[in-house]
Amino acid sequence: MTETPLTIALSKGRILQETLPLLKEAGIELLEDPSASRKLIFDTTRADVRIIVIRATDVPPYVQHGGADLGVAGKDVLMEHGAEGLFEPLDLEIARCKLMVAALKDAPPVSGRVRVATKFVNVARAYFARQGKQAEIIKLYGAMELAPLVGLADRIVDIVDTGNTLRANGLEPTEIIADDISSRVVVNRASMKTRHADIQGILDKLEQAVAKRR
Ligand code: ADP
Ligand code: PRP
Ligand code: MG
Repeated sequence: MTETPLTIALSKGRILQETLPLLKEAGIELLEDPSASRKLIFDTTRADVRIIVIRATDVPPYVQHGGADLGVAGKDVLMEHGAEGLFEPLDLEIARCKLMVAALKDAPPVSGRVRVATKFVNVARAYFARQGKQAEIIKLYGAMELAPLVGLADRIVDIVDTGNTLRANGLEPTEIIADDISSRVVVNRASMKTRHADIQGILDKLEQAVAKRR
């Protein structure tokens, strides 16, 4: 009986672009270009490994519930989702950025309840609670930088890399929530036991590929 292929979940965009070269060094190459295809599942040069392409925020639930054995997700997405049912054995050191609070440039401190727009609602709620600040969290799915400009929110919680997006919108960072965001390999807990040799083999080769780039 042939076993189901080992399934690796990646997300479109920078994680796919930056993970594919690492996978290639680990001996796993896609048989077709995913950015030129409407397909969601791809065979690779290893008959026992396939790649699925999903939304970044869907990688943790896919891996947690066994839709994929392995995945690559930003630490921000993992912080927001929680670590339940997931191993996080390897930092790929790609897609590095920070998770920050930002506001309109020179915005005054907020007295009373601060309105915070973000897609990271759990992270934001926990952060403001730790600061002892009352916060009303407004869930958005993108373009958080717009919220303070139109009076929707006093603060945003978002990813910052170069700071260009903040600057282009007249915003500035005010606090750092996490300065070590990068993409991590996550592994389903059951798969880690049942397919340990296969998974460990891939992790070891990825680790070598990461180390070579330092
Ligand atoms: P999406 O915005 O569709 O969720 P991205 O490909 O933009 O997906 O982001 C994937 C991951 O890359 C994020 O979870 C985060 O860890 C990281 N990231 C996001 N924006 C940036 C950026 N501007 N620079 C570097 N890394 C980023
Ligand atoms: C991300 C993030 C910020 C921006 C930060 O957006 O949501 O808007 O990058 O990067 P910077 O500090 O270098 O400007 P992304 O480029 O992923 O666009 P998206 O809205 O399509 O997610
Ligand atoms: Mg993005």
